[in-house]
Parts: sequence; structure tokens; C-alpha cells
Amino acid sequence: MNRILSGIQPTGNLHIGNYLGALKNWVRLQAEYDCIFCIVDLHAITVPQDPAALRQSTREVAATYIAAGIDAERATIFNQSMVSAHAELGWILTCLTPLGWLNRMTQFKDKAGKNKDSVGLGLYSYPVLMAADILIYQATHVPVGEDQKQHLELARDLAQTFNRQFGAEYFPLPEPQIMGPATRVMSLRDGSKKMSKSDLSDYSRINMTDDADTIALKIRKAKTDPLPLPDSIEAAKSRPEAENLLSIYAALTDASLADTIAQFAGSEFSRFKETLAEVAVAKLAPIAAARGRILSDVGALDAILRRGAERANAIAQPNLAAIKDLVGLLRP
Ligand code: AMP
Ligand code: TRP
Repeated sequence: MNRILSGIQPTGNLHIGNYLGALKNWVRLQAEYDCIFCIVDLHAITVPQDPAALRQSTREVAATYIAAGIDAERATIFNQSMVSAHAELGWILTCLTPLGWLNRMTQFKDKAGKNKDSVGLGLYSYPVLMAADILIYQATHVPVGEDQKQHLELARDLAQTFNRQFGAEYFPLPEPQIMGPATRVMSLRDGSKKMSKSDLSDYSRINMTDDADTIALKIRKAKTDPLPLPDSIEAAKSRPEAENLLSIYAALTDASLADTIAQFAGSEFSRFKETLAEVAVAKLAPIAAARGRILSDVGALDAILRRGAERANAIAQPNLAAIKDLVGLLRP
């Protein structure tokens, strides 16, 4: 059986990069896979979080999953810390991880920057916990944006190391699913930087909660070059801002990048930007509205997370028992 696991950190507003790189694909994949989608709060605390804001953000991300079309009856939705097996397998895998593997992780280097000696150990071992998230469910597929590719390679390496060390084909090697025309959405202000929740400028990203005027304004202000739109994928490659906006349009309209380029070849940016803003508003406004409705009944939302955690635990606990037996850890 094919099983999907993926997650998003509750560290603030979701943006259109999270949506097009991950969430939108999850919605489609629900029909074909047994899906587990968590809100990875243990990953969020690898950097300092305000407790009240973390709780709020966890609910907001859960509400956005559902608002975007994840069906809580069919898929399993919960926050990671409710299923302790993630952390327990995380420790077992930590003991199998050579430091050299972690030293290569580019996300750690980006996030730690010059503060390598003062950031927490959790930020360093972040990819090991991510591997545990996936492997505890014996997940076979992991739909994510392109920035997670290196972490997924580490998860595959750890699965293999475990299998070899304990002489069992216990973990399947999880396949990354990096799909669609917008696997790496770039900042609207700088086509060489990834769109990110932590960018200081709110004009760098389109948030899932931005209203129509804000979306239109951000797109109008988005950095471009003075030429008309490119007429081929080749020509777009050397114009990162143009390529980014065209990729966003393609992903929002379920078109290919090639067809989108053909549609707008030679147009002025101002016209294209108006059309892009209309498409973005049409797609995001209903999600924002549904998110608001879902958040207005916190009791019902928390019940969904509790039920999701029960379902996740029902898979994770027996797996953890089997893993402990393989490792030689006595259990009650
Ligand atoms: P994060 O917000 O880091 O927890 O990311 C959650 C998901 O969104 C992951 O699958 C990421 O790969 C994806 N993602 C984050 N930023 C982007 C982006 N700028 N473009 C495409 N996917 C992204
Ligand atoms: N590291 C991922 C991100 O920042 C989030 C994440 C944590 C995740 N655990 C995961 C993604 C397991 C996929 C599968 O985007």
C-alpha cells in the first residue's frame, strides 16, 4: 500500500509557496493514497516560539489544510507533538546519524548563519526528526517543495542504514514527490531568494490570508524587468522574476509553464500582472473564507486534531514496538 506523509511548520502565515509547492498537491493526492498530514510543531520549536502564538499558529495551519481541501475524514490530520512516537523514533535515528551527514545540510547553514555555536541542537538534528516523521508510518511518498529534497535524501539514507544495521527490510525508502510548475516559488522582491514566512518584507510573499486588494498590490509591486514577457522556456530561464510569476500563474491555473509562456509571450507585465492577480484572488479568497469559518469553531477543530492523533497513534505505536524489538529495547 502507498502511504503519504507530509507536514508544514506552524511558524506563521502560510504563503502561496507553501500552497503551490505542497498543500495544493496534497489535495489531489488524497484520492490515490492513504494520507497523513501533520502540523510539525516539534520542528517549529527548533527556533524560539511564543507559546500562545505557537498554539494559535498550529490551529491556523490545521484550518488552512482543511480550507484548501484536505478531507479530515479521509486523511489523517494532527499536530506532531500529539504522537510521541515521532520523538522516540527521532532519538533512535539520531543515534544512527553520522555528524558528517548533518554538516552537509544547507537549510541548517542558512538558518544558523553566523550563529552556528549558539543555535539549539534541535535545529541541527531537525532533518533526523523529519526522517522519523516519515518512517514511523512506513510512508512511501512525501510531497514537498524543492527545498526539502536534501532532507528527503537523508531520510532515505537513514532508512537504509537502519535496515542494514538491524538486518530487516523494515522501512521502505520514501520517494519525494516534487510536483507541478511551482516547486520553488521565489520572493516577489528578489527572484534569487525563496519565498519564505520569515522574510522581513511582507511584500516578498502572498499570504494565504491576504485580501484581494493586498494580493493585487503585491503583484503590481512585484519586481520585474523592463522587457515584454518571454516567448520560450529558454528565454524565461535567464529572467528569474518573469519565470517566477509565470510559474505561479501556471500552477494556479493547472497549466504547464510552456503553455502559460505561449499564452503571454510578448505581453506587457502590467497586463499580465492584472490577470495573475485575478487568478490568485479567485483561488485564494475562498480558501481564506473557509479558513476563517473553521477557526471560528475551535472546539470542532481541536476534535479533528485529537481524532487525527488517535488514528496516527494506532499506526505509530505498533510500528514503534516493532522498531524497539529490532533495536533490542525492552518494552512493557
Ligand atoms: P515550511 O513552511 O518550511 O514548513 O514548508 C512547508 C512546505 O512548503 C514544504 O513542503 C516546503 O517544501 C514547501 N515550501 C516552503 N516554501 C516554499 C516555496 N517558496 N516554494 C515552494 N514550496 C515551498
Ligand atoms: N521540514 C519541512 C519543511 O520545513 C517540514 C517537515 C517536517 C516535513 N517533517 C516533515 C515535510 C515530514 C515532509 C515530511 O518544509
